[in-house]
Amino acid sequence: MLQNNFRHINWQNNQLYLLDQRKLPQEQITLTFTQASEVAKAIQDMVVRGAPAIGITAAYGVVLAANNAYKNTANNWKTVIKTDLQILAQARPTAVNLIWALDRMKARFSEIQSNPEPILLAEAKAIHQEDIEANYKMGDLGANLLPENCRVLTHCNAGALATGGYGTALGVIRSAYATNKIKQVYADETRPWLQGARLTAWELLQDNIPVTLLADGAAAYLMQQKKVDWIIVGSDRITANGDVANKIGTYSLAVLARQHGIKFMVAAPTSTIDMNLKSGEQIIIEERSANEVLTIAGKTIAPKQAQAWNPSFDVTPAHLVDAIVTEKGIVEQPNLERIEQLFYQLT
Ligand code: MRU
Repeated sequence: MLQNNFRHINWQNNQLYLLDQRKLPQEQITLTFTQASEVAKAIQDMVVRGAPAIGITAAYGVVLAANNAYKNTANNWKTVIKTDLQILAQARPTAVNLIWALDRMKARFSEIQSNPEPILLAEAKAIHQEDIEANYKMGDLGANLLPENCRVLTHCNAGALATGGYGTALGVIRSAYATNKIKQVYADETRPWLQGARLTAWELLQDNIPVTLLADGAAAYLMQQKKVDWIIVGSDRITANGDVANKIGTYSLAVLARQHGIKFMVAAPTSTIDMNLKSGEQIIIEERSANEVLTIAGKTIAPKQAQAWNPSFDVTPAHLVDAIVTEKGIVEQPNLERIEQLFYQLT
């Protein structure tokens, strides 16, 4: 099985280390964090991004918050930490993994009697490790759905960099590549942050998996030319009925896939499923700064007077999704009943 041999989220000597994804692929710079508020800012500013990676990072942020609060007011740390928890929760709104991880961390508070670090650090590491293991499972399950000589198209970066390691959509592609099922990997460049061009291309090439980039607008023509068999993407939040929020541009790929008879797969761990929301209309879609559209790599590309609209995600309705692949199993043609069956492991 292919391994991605970089670890972009690291805990060492009571500090959190994050590979700065804004600088990839040109520079590999690691930043050090000792405060939860700095971690929240790093999430907001895209030092680390991708739904599961955001959750894991926030979990380590809770360890930093608790350690600092315990150092200052040992008796009162559970109250003092509340501001940091709120700041972390508000870092980005769409990826449910953030709140999911914070809730898991908070659930451990009641059993802590003295120094919070041992229990909280163990929980953060468990969240991290479980995510990697889930990705390997999804990789194998998703790869089984693909035919031989498969040509796939992915969007954004749903790889090792977006998770604890291995990746969701890229995990499926890694597993399928390892069993010689992949003939060609296409990746959308994914404006405005260029996660496809910068991150997906970088990490696939780290594993010697050839990748062909295309401008987002070229995907329709690629499909019309019958050059792709499956679209494989990740997700930031899947609602109870199977609607899928993911990087802006995912919805158009799903519509195009249906139009051209191409299969559409979403690979995501169950920590991305939000059973509290009935449908995608209820998902809060993050809108980011207009500057991200008006500039490229810090350089202004539009006239000064131009305005920009910059939704970071869109919602693909469940009926356009052929398969949601999770670590607990696959839901084909997702709907409420099938998602409930998987989520609660009903027989
Ligand atoms: O804005 P980003 O880069 O955090 O968006 C990331 C995505 O949309 C990913 O596809 C999603 O989080 C799934 S990651 C396994």
